[in-house]
Amino acid sequence: MSEPELSIQRVGVIGCGLMGHGIAQVAAQAGCAVVVYEADAAALERGFARIAGSLGKLVEKQKLSAEQRDAALARLQPATELAALADCDLVIEAIVENLDAKRELFRSLDPLVHSKAIFASNTSSFSIDELACVTGRLERFIGLHFFNPVQLMKLVEIVRLEGSSDDVLDAARAFVLRIEKHPVIASDTPGFIVNRLLVPYLAESIRMLERGDASKEDIDAAMQLGCGYPMGPLTLADYVGLDTSLSILEGWHARFPAEQVFRPPQLLRDLVAKKRYGRKSGQGFYLWEGDKKK
Ligand code: CAA
Ligand code: NAD
Repeated sequence: MSEPELSIQRVGVIGCGLMGHGIAQVAAQAGCAVVVYEADAAALERGFARIAGSLGKLVEKQKLSAEQRDAALARLQPATELAALADCDLVIEAIVENLDAKRELFRSLDPLVHSKAIFASNTSSFSIDELACVTGRLERFIGLHFFNPVQLMKLVEIVRLEGSSDDVLDAARAFVLRIEKHPVIASDTPGFIVNRLLVPYLAESIRMLERGDASKEDIDAAMQLGCGYPMGPLTLADYVGLDTSLSILEGWHARFPAEQVFRPPQLLRDLVAKKRYGRKSGQGFYLWEGDKKK
C-alpha cells in the first residue's frame, strides 16, 4: 500500500479507562507520540498505572524488552487540558457511553485541534454521524471501534460516513495496521458489525438467567464448551462493563422501541443501580479480583 496522504504520528486519546488506556498503550508501543487526556487527574493516574501494569506483564512474559517498555512509556504524555491535543493528527475519543457527554466534548475539541486532524470515536453504539455533526469536519470524522482488552483483541472496525474522504480512510487503515490490528470497514449502523450481533446475544443470556432457565455458571459453560467461545456471555458482560452494556441497550431501545432484542433486561438495570458494574467495580454477575474472576 502506498503511503497515505496524511500520516498519523501524533495521537490523542480522550478517556483513560478500560478502553482508553489500552488504545493509548498500543499506539505508544507502535511508536506514536500519544497525548492522553482525562478531565480528572486521579482517573488519569489510574489509567497510567494500568498501562504500566500491562506493559510490565508483557516484559514479564518476555513479549517486550524493558527498553521497549520504557520507550513506550516515554511516548505517553498525560494531560488534563484539552488544548494539549492541539497538534494531534488523530484524536480518539473513549469516554463514557453517554451521547450528550460525547457531543459536548467534540464541540469543545473542534476549535482547539488543527483542521487537518482526524477525529474518531470508539463508541460502542452511537451513530458516528450524530457525533460528527457537532463539529465542522464531517469528512474527517470516523468511528474507530476497538475491542476489549485492546492489548489482545486484533480487530478494529473503521466506521465510514457517507462523506468520509478516501485519504482519511487510507490514513485510518494505515494507523490500524501500524498498531498491528486488523481493520474492517463498517457502515454507520447501530452496533456496526460486531455489537449488532454481540449485544443482543449478551442481553438474551441475561434474560435467560432472569427467567431461571439455567444457572449463570451453566449458561457460561454452555457457550464456552458448546460453541468454543473464550468466555461465556455473562462473564463477557461483566468484562465489558454492565454500565456500558446497559447504556448501549438503553440508547438503542429508545431509538428502536419495536426491536425486542434491544430491550434492557430488568436484572441488568438492577445490578447497575447497585453499582455492580462487573470487572471494573469488583462485582457484577460474578466477583472479580483485578482482571480475574474469583
Ligand atoms: N496487557 C498485557 N497482557 C495481557 C493483558 C493486558 N491487558 N491481559 C491479558 N494479558 C496476557 C496474559 O498475561 C496472558 O499471557 P500468556 O498467554 O503469556 O500467559 C494472555 O494475555 C492471555 O490472558 P489470560 O490467560 O488472562 O486469559 P485468556 O487466555 O482467557 O484470554 C481473553 C483472555 C483474550 C480476554 C479471552 O478470554 C477472550 O478473548 N475473551 C473474549 C473477549 C471479547 O469477546 N472481547 C470483545 C468484547 S466486546 C467489545 O469490546 C466491543 C464493545 O463495544 C462492547
Ligand atoms: P470506562 O468507564 O472504563 O472509561 C471511561 C473514562 O472516560 C473514565 O476514565 C472517565 O474518567 C473518562 N471520562 C468520562 N467523561 C469524560 C470527559 N468528559 N472527558 C474526559 N474523560 C472522561 O469506559 P470504557 O469501557 O473504557 O468505555 C469507553 C468508550 O469505549 C465507550 O464509548 C464504550 O462504549 C466504548 N467501548 C467499550 C468497550 C468495553 O468493552 N468496555 C469496548 C469497545 C468500546
